[in-house]
Amino acid sequence: MFQSKARSLRRLLRCKHAAVSKASCSRLVLGIETSCDDTGAAVMDGSGAILGESLHSQKEVHLRTGGIIPTVAQQLHRENIQRVVQEALDRSGVAPAELSAVATTVKPGLALSLAVGLEFSRRFVRRHNKPFIPIHHMEAHALTVRMLHAVPFPFLVLLVSGGHSLLAVARGVDDFLLLGRTLDEAPGDTLDKVARRLSLRKHPRCATLSGGQAIELLAKDGDRRRFGFRTPMGQTPDCCFSFAGLRNQVTMLIKKTEAEEGVEEGTLLSQVSDIAAATQHTVASHLAKRTHRAVLFCKANGLLPEDTPTLVLSGGVASNQYIRRALLIIAEATGLRLLCPPARFCTDNGPMIAWNGVERLREGRGILPPGVDVSYEPRAALGLDLTAEVRAAAIRVPSIRMKIPD
Ligand code: KG4
Ligand code: ZN
Repeated sequence: MFQSKARSLRRLLRCKHAAVSKASCSRLVLGIETSCDDTGAAVMDGSGAILGESLHSQKEVHLRTGGIIPTVAQQLHRENIQRVVQEALDRSGVAPAELSAVATTVKPGLALSLAVGLEFSRRFVRRHNKPFIPIHHMEAHALTVRMLHAVPFPFLVLLVSGGHSLLAVARGVDDFLLLGRTLDEAPGDTLDKVARRLSLRKHPRCATLSGGQAIELLAKDGDRRRFGFRTPMGQTPDCCFSFAGLRNQVTMLIKKTEAEEGVEEGTLLSQVSDIAAATQHTVASHLAKRTHRAVLFCKANGLLPEDTPTLVLSGGVASNQYIRRALLIIAEATGLRLLCPPARFCTDNGPMIAWNGVERLREGRGILPPGVDVSYEPRAALGLDLTAEVRAAAIRVPSIRMKIPD
């Protein structure tokens, strides 16, 4: 008893922001993430301080099998979730009874993966009689920045990951205006597939890296001008994205190069770095151009504050420094401040889910009693869809030279 009181006191003294009241600081949230291939958990206090966290990545297994096999991902989540949650709790020194709520990703994501986190959480909240906060994975990526910086609503956010690519105005914890989304595949998916087609796993410096990380690493030594790819959707004046056509262009180039060199598919080409650099540059330019139009749309419609308008870049692909620099060119040209969480908070993690729980708990939004039945949703839109209005506005974007420093 005394020990638990001493622990609470220590936690309060650690409370991150002086502006947050002691009462809300003492609210403790357990966050659980299993929407794709990372099993993550974290315990956080009401000020956003991470008291304990744990993450199990399935990346190496999926690299070996050449992509995520949903049944394998599910099995790995099952094998690890109990340990990951227990580790986060142990590291935080918080007992389940002390938690104010449990927040868990329930949408969107791989059905079999979401099911594991939800099932575990359902049993956990019933056993410990705790409120449950279902979390939208993309909402969590969008809000992560507020765990680290005092960013007021509204702000413009570009989210780029293995499953998504979207532009939205974040107006509140659960209030988003969707300006653009991908029409086919997500940029992380494209980079992962290009990396696989280039057999980068055989490259001594890339064996354990995700596709996106491998492309970024090799691109540093490459000449992006050696191969030119067309930037997608140049004639479509909206804020949506498309990456499938780029992947096709890259695949054709790889096939042509293999034929010229007389080597089989699966051989590491001598030009991998140049191909990686050109691919990364085209992804960065496409993201930058659509974001530029989104900024102009926001300005034309008064959607961002005049005082310190902010562009937030997040999601796994936002770990990429070259893409960050491309977005910085747009932010500087349009007078916005650019904020990106550090890489470990861009890729999937437990704290981002716990933080979304903290934000919802503060606002009293979407908090359910322990017994309520919740289903997972593999597909789930984010916010009010304004993509048709953006297309109708057909805003012309002045050309900016994407001279992205290497
Ligand atoms: O957000 P995330 O961890 O999971 C999803 O919600 O999808 O994003 C994973 C994606 C993968 O496709 C991975 O290749 C990509 O993020 N990624 C990167 C980098 N690090 C991870 N893409 C480009 N550059 C990176 N440095
Ligand atoms: Zn994600």
